[in-house]
Amino acid sequence: MISSPICSMIGIEYPIFQGGMAWISDGKLAAAVSNAGGLGIISAMNAEGDYLREQIAIARSLTDKPFGVNIMLQSPHVEAVAQVVVEEKVPVVVTGAGIPTKYIPIWKEAGILTIPVAASVAAAKMMERAGADAVIAEGGESGGHIGDMATMPLVPQVCDAVNIPVIAAGGIGDGRGVAASFMLGAVGVQVGTRFLLAEECSVHQSYKDAVKKASDISTTATGRRFGGNTCRCLKNQFVRDFLKKEYEADTTAEDVAMLGAGALRKAAVEGDIKTGCMMAGQISGMLSNEQSAAEIVKDLMEGAEKILKGAVAWVK
Ligand SMILES: Cc1cc2nc3c(=O)[nH]c(=O)nc-3n(C[C@H](O)[C@H](O)[C@H](O)COP(=O)(O)O)c2cc1C
Repeated sequence: MISSPICSMIGIEYPIFQGGMAWISDGKLAAAVSNAGGLGIISAMNAEGDYLREQIAIARSLTDKPFGVNIMLQSPHVEAVAQVVVEEKVPVVVTGAGIPTKYIPIWKEAGILTIPVAASVAAAKMMERAGADAVIAEGGESGGHIGDMATMPLVPQVCDAVNIPVIAAGGIGDGRGVAASFMLGAVGVQVGTRFLLAEECSVHQSYKDAVKKASDISTTATGRRFGGNTCRCLKNQFVRDFLKKEYEADTTAEDVAMLGAGALRKAAVEGDIKTGCMMAGQISGMLSNEQSAAEIVKDLMEGAEKILKGAVAWVK
């Protein structure tokens, strides 16, 4: 059985985080992953505090295991949700889109572990200085908003640069990715795209079917021209229209920032997979089965264990 320092830090059985996914990772999915021994994470997305409170209540009605909340620091409701996690005594907060310096002292006092996402060594060091308990090094193979680095070079460089535990994210889809993450120095993994195919995941069936049909080259990144808002998603009409507009001569960074507004919801909730945005990672090409969250966690862990045990055969 694989156990790592992040398991004892959080009180989970397996070092697997289900990444926060706006419009998708709700209390039901988070509870299913936590019940399977991983860390389920509810996305607070850009919603008001009451939405998060409802999802926490749903999770608590389905599990007594630890779970986390993903807070996007650019949310217009960040102050409210930062307070909700304190009042609800959520064990773990994962942050994205910024440095949570302002909130870490309040969360620490409430006994909450803060684990921010970082897409570069510089960002990871800033998180450590701000008082983060661990950091998620997320490579650009990931679905959703991404940085420039790939997981393979990012994770070991972050591990060398900080003294807090590092979780690897981006492009991890089976036991091979989990085992490789450990070899790079990580003590756990965060997986998003594979959990889109969890039976407990509420994302629209058409979105799931698109991920199942995807090949290795079915994703691309929008928003690279001006940086800061780069997003990996499955290629479709939305992406073609986005890229055409993005590279028109008179398009500005502000125009590009507005192009994706509401598009994830359109695909994830309404099932409009033509003009909606289907965020998904490069690992999509390897995924074809819908399974329960428990089967996914079991497959990731058993696969990693087999590979790690077999790896000694390479050393003569
Ligand atoms: C559909 C989708 C939505 C996402 N939304 C968010 C989000 O709201 N906040 C966040 O921090 N990360 C978000 N992510 C990133 C995941 O939390 C996770 O780090 C990433 O999916 C890991 O890489 P993988 O997709 O290769 O598994 C999203 C990813 C996907 C696929």
